[in-house]
Amino acid sequence: MKSTVALSLLSGALALPAANPAPQTVSFGKRNMLTRPNGEANVAGILASLNHTLHKYNLKPLPYYAPVAVLQAELFSVDVEKRQANLPLIDQTQLGTEDVAYYGSITIGGGDGKAQKFNVIFDTGSADAWVPGPSCTKARGCTHTTKYDQGGRDLGTKTSIQYGSGSTEGENYVDDLTIAGLTSKSQTLISVTTAAGFTQVDADGLVGMGFSSIAQDNGTTVFENLIAQGTVQADEFSFYLGRVSEKTGRNSQLTLGGRDSTKYKGNFVTVPVSSQTYWQVALDGVKVGGKKVAGTAGQAAIDTGTTILLAPTAVAKAVFDAIPGSIGLNLAGEHIYLYPCNTAVTNIPKITFAGQDLAINPLDFKLGSLSAADVDNLALGDRALAAQIREQMARAGLCIAGFAGGDLTGIDDLYIVGDTFIKNWYSVFSYSAANGKPAVLFAPNIGQS
Ligand SMILES: *[C@@H]1O[C@H](CO)[C@@H](O)[C@H](O)[C@H]1NC(C)=O
Ligand SMILES: *[C@@H]1O[C@H](CO)[C@@H](O)[C@H](O)[C@H]1NC(C)=O
Repeated sequence: MKSTVALSLLSGALALPAANPAPQTVSFGKRNMLTRPNGEANVAGILASLNHTLHKYNLKPLPYYAPVAVLQAELFSVDVEKRQANLPLIDQTQLGTEDVAYYGSITIGGGDGKAQKFNVIFDTGSADAWVPGPSCTKARGCTHTTKYDQGGRDLGTKTSIQYGSGSTEGENYVDDLTIAGLTSKSQTLISVTTAAGFTQVDADGLVGMGFSSIAQDNGTTVFENLIAQGTVQADEFSFYLGRVSEKTGRNSQLTLGGRDSTKYKGNFVTVPVSSQTYWQVALDGVKVGGKKVAGTAGQAAIDTGTTILLAPTAVAKAVFDAIPGSIGLNLAGEHIYLYPCNTAVTNIPKITFAGQDLAINPLDFKLGSLSAADVDNLALGDRALAAQIREQMARAGLCIAGFAGGDLTGIDDLYIVGDTFIKNWYSVFSYSAANGKPAVLFAPNIGQS
């Protein structure tokens, strides 16, 4: 592959890195439901997004609260209509100013001249490629209209992923899958029959970019196939995740087979992968006000498919104890935190990787300010909790943090480091940068850090 192909997606913008012809890039569309245009938090959207993350990592979901469920239904039905009506022209600021998910288009099949296009999330926190199959209706959890025509080879096996709150099931196929002109030949993929936990996501499906060791269909990931098939120039892929609020959202981009030097500045911090499952690395600790918060060392999965940053609950508590005026909300064991909107920048947490303190941008730490009208919704109807929030709000305006607490089953001390962090750092996922072994590398994003 010699030419650079850049796909224009929902943002309608072309990303054509001029200097570097080899890596292939995909620009992303994105969807905004966390913050309203006036900067206030969209509580129903935030709770849905958190619920989605809890589901992905098989944690107990948030409780049901009817007024929030009504708001969520409205939010998603509006989104789906917009998506269908305005596909090539979506204006990222219509629903708000936050960045909840990033997706781009792929095609499947095409040997017969009938390639199908899907919008997918490129998810470093999982390793399967899945798209809705013909039998996956809305009632079975697939909200979008494009269904895989099953033009590939049927393996005759099934994949089933059990979650506490449901399951995702599908049939295993082999087909050609193309991203930005690069084709992974004979790619295993899942033609989904029943999906759980994907209804809040405005993409058709998902392409897992984690290590094949965690593929539920026991297949090889798209990118590992691209390496094995000699299709990419370098054994790495890179993400630039923009911010709608700064008009960089339309520059969002995945680069396959290299880095795009127009998207980062300065030096990379190289963080060796500690477990080839997720892109898992050692996290040295969290700093607030320039001081390391005790007990915050752990492991981190760098996960482009998760909106927020999820820390072990004890860590999240210790971090917010260090931010004056914060309060934690215990919703079904998962802790959402509020902090005074006027918190000094020095008290916004920094994450230490490979000995370097890497900032979370205050714009990303803040999901939005809490409006008085939304306090009961955020407390999910718990009156005592609502009263506690109101009391604190009387002292200072409160903001909802994109940094929450939740304990994952199976791996102790695991953080899920999602877009709240990645938006500030150009991120390279390399199979060889740590002396021949995999590493994640971070450098400041141009225009954002
Ligand atoms: C969270 O998800 C569960 C299970 O899907 C659902 O019943 C509940 O209403 C959701 N709660 C919120 C607050 O989104
Ligand atoms: C994947 O491998 C595991 C362990 O060998 C097996 O239990 C499972 O059925 C396999 N799944 C598929 C979809 O082939």
